[in-house]
Amino acid sequence: MGSQKHVVLLLSVLLILNSLLFSGADEDHYYEFILQETEITKLYSTKTILTVNGSFPGPEIRVRRGDTVYVNVLNQGRSAVSFDWQGFEDPVDGSNELIQPGKNFTYEIELDDEIGTLWWHARSAWAKATVHGAFVILPAADEEYPFPTPTSDQIIIFGEWFKQELTEANETIAAGQADGYTINGHLGETYGCSNDTTYLLEVAYEGLYLLRLINAVANETMVFAIAQHSFTTVGQNATYSQRSFSTSLTLAPGQTLDVLLSANQNVGQYYITAQPSSGRHNTTGVIQYLTSTGV
Ligand SMILES: *[C@@H]1O[C@H](CO)[C@@H](O)[C@H](O)[C@H]1NC(C)=O
Ligand SMILES: *[C@@H]1O[C@H](CO)[C@@H](O)[C@H](O)[C@H]1NC(C)=O
Ligand SMILES: *[C@@H]1O[C@H](CO)[C@@H](O)[C@H](O)[C@H]1NC(C)=O
Ligand SMILES: *[C@@H]1O[C@H](CO)[C@@H](O)[C@H](O)[C@H]1NC(C)=O
Ligand SMILES: *[C@@H]1O[C@H](CO)[C@@H](O)[C@H](O)[C@H]1NC(C)=O
Ligand SMILES: *[C@@H]1O[C@H](CO)[C@@H](O)[C@H](O)[C@H]1NC(C)=O
Ligand SMILES: *[C@@H]1O[C@H](CO)[C@@H](O)[C@H](O)[C@H]1NC(C)=O
Repeated sequence: MGSQKHVVLLLSVLLILNSLLFSGADEDHYYEFILQETEITKLYSTKTILTVNGSFPGPEIRVRRGDTVYVNVLNQGRSAVSFDWQGFEDPVDGSNELIQPGKNFTYEIELDDEIGTLWWHARSAWAKATVHGAFVILPAADEEYPFPTPTSDQIIIFGEWFKQELTEANETIAAGQADGYTINGHLGETYGCSNDTTYLLEVAYEGLYLLRLINAVANETMVFAIAQHSFTTVGQNATYSQRSFSTSLTLAPGQTLDVLLSANQNVGQYYITAQPSSGRHNTTGVIQYLTSTGV
C-alpha cells in the first residue's frame, strides 16, 4: 500500500512539473532588428531601400500564443522610422515614436489571445513598402490546432515594387502606382525580366499545408489562386474563423488569412497568381510537387 501511495505522489508531482514546464509557461523572446540601407536589383534596375537585416521582406517572428516578444530595433538607416503593431490586442508602447538614425528602441509585445498570423511593419507608407515581415503565433505548447495538423506552414507575403526611390515625400501610396508586385520578394515571370526570380513552393503529394497569407500592398486588394487547387480558410487577422472553402482568396490591404492547402492533384507544377485590384500587372509563382515524400 505504502509504495502505491508513493507512486501516486510521484505521478502527481510529475504531472505538476509537466504542466509547469509545458503549458502555462509563456515564454519571452528577443529579436534584434537592424534597419539598414540595402541595394536591391529588380526590373533591371538597382536602388537602395530601407530593410530590416538586409532582406525584403524582412525576417519572421515566430512565437506561441501568450508569449512576450521584445524587438530591439537599431536604426542604421538614413531616416527616422517608427513601427506600427497593428492588429495586436494590447497597445504597444512607443508605437507612435520615431527611432532616429543611430538610435534604438525596444518594443515589448505582450501577446494575449492572438493566434495565427499577423505582421510587423514600419508605420509610414514609404518605409512600410520595404520594412515588413510575418509575425507567426503558433498554438501554445499544450494546445492543438482546431483543424488537422498541417505537414508544415508557409508564409506568403504580397508586396509591391517601385523602380523609383520612395522617401518621406511618399506619405501615401495610391493604388496602381507600383511597377510590379511580389510574392515573398519575387516578381515572377509576368514582367519579362530574365534576371528576376519566381517564388517556388515545394509540396509533397498528399501533404497538408497551412499557408499564412499577408497583404503588405499599401492600397490594393489582392486576389490569390493556385491553378486546380482550392483552399479551406481557417483564420484571419490572428483569430480562428469559421471554415470556408474557395478556389480564390481576396485580401484587403493589411489583412492576413490562414488557409489549408491539400496537395492532392496530379504530381506536377501549377501556377500561383496574385492579382492586384488595380489590374495593371499580375504576379506569378509556382507550386512544385516533389515526387519523393522527403518534406
Ligand atoms: C539581424 O542581424 C543582427 C546582426 O547581424 C543579428 O544579431 C540578428 O540576430 C538578426 N536578426 C534576425 C531576426 O535575423
Ligand atoms: C542580369 O544578371 C547578370 C548576372 O548577374 C548581369 O551580368 C547582367 O548585367 C544582368 N542584366 C541586366 C539587364 O541587368
Ligand atoms: C538599445 O540597445 C541596447 C543594447 O542592446 C539596450 O541595452 C538598450 O536597452 C536599448 N535601448 C532602448 C531604448 O531600447
Ligand atoms: C513618391 O513621391 C515622389 C515625389 O513627390 C513622386 O514623384 C512619386 O510619384 C511618388 N511615388 C509613389 C509610388 O507614390
Ligand atoms: C490610398 O490611396 C488613397 C487615394 O490615393 C489615399 O488617400 C490614401 O492615403 C492611400 N493610403 C495609403 C495607406 O497609402
Ligand atoms: C482584417 O484586417 C484588415 C486590415 O486591418 C481589415 O481591412 C479587415 O477588415 C480585417 N478583417 C476582419 C474580418 O477583421
Ligand atoms: C491577371 O490575372 C487575371 C486572372 O488570372 C486575368 O484575368 C488578367 O487578365 C491578368 N491581368 C494581366 C494584366 O495579366
